[in-house]
Amino acid sequence: MDKKLKVGVLGATGMVGQRFLSLLENHPWYEVVAVAASPNSAGKRYEDAVGSRWKMTTPMPQAYKDLVVMNVNDVEEVASKVDFVFSAVDMTKEEIKAIEEAYAKTETPVVSNNSAHRWTKDVPMVVPEINPEHFEIIEAQKKRLGTKRGFIAVKPNCSIQSYAPALNAWKEYEPIEVVVTTYQAISGAGKTFKDWPEMEGNIIPFIGGEEEKSEKEPLRVLGHIEGDEIVPASLPKITCQCVRVPVLNGHTAAVFVRFKNKPSKEDLVKKLVEYRGEPQELNLPSAPKQFIQYLTEDNRPQVALDVDYENGMGVSIGRLREDSMYDYKFIGLSHNTLRGAAGGALLCAEYLTAKKFISKK
Ligand SMILES: NC(=O)c1ccc[n+]([C@@H]2O[C@H](COP(=O)([O-])OP(=O)(O)OC[C@H]3O[C@@H](n4cnc5c(N)ncnc54)[C@H](OP(=O)(O)O)[C@@H]3O)[C@@H](O)[C@H]2O)c1
Repeated sequence: MDKKLKVGVLGATGMVGQRFLSLLENHPWYEVVAVAASPNSAGKRYEDAVGSRWKMTTPMPQAYKDLVVMNVNDVEEVASKVDFVFSAVDMTKEEIKAIEEAYAKTETPVVSNNSAHRWTKDVPMVVPEINPEHFEIIEAQKKRLGTKRGFIAVKPNCSIQSYAPALNAWKEYEPIEVVVTTYQAISGAGKTFKDWPEMEGNIIPFIGGEEEKSEKEPLRVLGHIEGDEIVPASLPKITCQCVRVPVLNGHTAAVFVRFKNKPSKEDLVKKLVEYRGEPQELNLPSAPKQFIQYLTEDNRPQVALDVDYENGMGVSIGRLREDSMYDYKFIGLSHNTLRGAAGGALLCAEYLTAKKFISKK
């Protein structure tokens, strides 16, 4: 790319926003020119607006410290500076829906980390290694919005990324029933142990709204386009329990699967390790070289050893074995704020740029 695209980050002071900025620091295609947050932060230097809330383990990139934070609600002003935006704001669902549409209508593509539009019928919800063809629905969305280049694209919830990739790798064997328990990190709630000391040595058996997302979102990702909408797949049936555990980063899933056509364990492992998606073919800057690794040791995947696999963009699977009630069971692990949040959205943007859905204004 001869000239970098100009990017804005909505919700730049929050945990996911910080992750976006860290990932974009030396990005070969994108340059952050606008950071936006709530009216409380607007007008302040980025470093001052964040204050003691910097949650990354790496220092705040120098290049962002003096940027003046803009107000997310000043849509025209932010949009006038950028080619597209990433969105990771914490507002009500209705407010997020409205503000993301307002950005799209200024002809500014929005790649969102928020859940507000995940079920809007013509908004693609994509894991680029699984369903990049869903981006084709953008043409129908642009017609509805009356835009030429403005649209919204979203990524699915962080909880599904530890098991949905395996289910897709095995689709020819037709998984029909899936039972999942997720063990989810505290950064998924935008928190560290400093903000949430009650989580040390603790488990909380409830994460608001998460079980419904974990059961339904894989079906939309595995669905297909019909006319001007994405129609979710009807199988596999998924039931899920989501548990918050004392881990900083990394969502683990313990999964049972029943197939229509039960394969051998060797076939299943082969499908995982041979899995390649379009991001790998296109050699996108944030694409993991190997999307799924299969670990043979009985005590893997482990958060401490495996969460950063492929810079947090790969998925680790292990302990695949036959089960006495279902066909197989396994453990999956993925990084919730990288693959599951900012990194997943960045990979969507890279795919959209490679395919010319996003370009210079
Ligand atoms: N953390 C994760 O792993 C994760 C994963 C998937 C999805 N998400 C979703 O991503 C979004 C952001 O999550 P987060 O953890 O980064 O949240 P966060 O740390 O609370 O950050 C929220 C951001 O939104 C801004 N904001 C809050 N109220 C606003 C308003 N009224 N108008 C404009 N901006 C406003 C904040 O600005 P100020 O600093 O000025 O208040 C901040 O920049 C949420 O919707 C969350 O559900 C998070």
